[in-house]
Amino acid sequence: MLSFTETCPSNIALIKYWGKYANQIPANASISYTLTESYTKTTFQAHEKESFDVKVYLSGKENSAFAEKIKKYFISIQEFVPFVLQYSYEIHTENTFPHSSGIASSASGFGAIATCLMRMESELNQSEFDVKKASFLARLGSGSACRSLYKGLVVWGKNEFIEGSSNEYAISYPYEVHSELLEFCDSILLVHEGEKKVSSTVGHNLMNNNPYAKVRFEQANALFEVMKSILQSGDIMEFGSLIESEALTLHAMMMASQPYFVLMQPNTLKTLDAIWNFRQETKLPLFFTLDAGANVHILYPKNIENKAKSFIESELLQLSEQRKVIHDYVAI
Ligand code: DP6
Repeated sequence: MLSFTETCPSNIALIKYWGKYANQIPANASISYTLTESYTKTTFQAHEKESFDVKVYLSGKENSAFAEKIKKYFISIQEFVPFVLQYSYEIHTENTFPHSSGIASSASGFGAIATCLMRMESELNQSEFDVKKASFLARLGSGSACRSLYKGLVVWGKNEFIEGSSNEYAISYPYEVHSELLEFCDSILLVHEGEKKVSSTVGHNLMNNNPYAKVRFEQANALFEVMKSILQSGDIMEFGSLIESEALTLHAMMMASQPYFVLMQPNTLKTLDAIWNFRQETKLPLFFTLDAGANVHILYPKNIENKAKSFIESELLQLSEQRKVIHDYVAI
């Protein structure tokens, strides 16, 4: 029996991936921050000489729907990891963050499984751990997962402004970044917990017939030129304006889909408003981004952490149904 325990963090996109082609090829490039506190821990036991099967335990409880998903995933990647169907697996997985909290558990979850598979491959072949291949395999499980294999700023998707970028796997952002834009915090305000009305998979597919899709994909790719110059200069206000616009554009795409849908809640908008007011009054660089959900990621540099946290405590916590915020940080 082979056994591995691995962790993989979640990530939050700054330029968003929304829309994809067959085989998990993104319609545009994306860039994200990898986090530290929100991660998945996976223990992976592979038993040889038993017929292929997968059992998954999520936080100690057997989960057959999850097991079916992983089984399908293993079958789908067999051409890249030929040993995968020769074992039977018992997988124990747990997240440090609550389920349906708006933190992508598919990103950290598939990241952790892909890491285990690559550990297995390197043990079987006596080869080096291949992070690029881990990212490649993670992508086939969930697109955004491929970005979780690296720390800091990570790019996924072929882009003319980013050397070495690929649709098949993510890479570490290859240029110098101003330190203020790396030492960042992400406080996630859990405005609303619970299953999303529309899954990411359905949302991505709705981009196929979205009349704004083509322009959106071009816009996202073009924004890399802007982002690159911001990351170099450290112009934090420009950075904030770019990422807030990206978050709103993502949600605008949802509203412009057919059928249309809205994932924000009234308190999501109240949170954005409070952030804008705070910024106007204090001139402090505190911004938001949104995932495909109602919760708000509040992004700010480490050097204003105390002021940011007291603002969150006094003004934003009341906008969370359960008064919950997760204070996370960019992994550097
Ligand atoms: C809004 O990676 O969850 O978070 O590839 O279908 O698994 P699948 O989708 P997923 O989509 C993430 C969308 C997003 C933006 C982003 O992370 O770039």
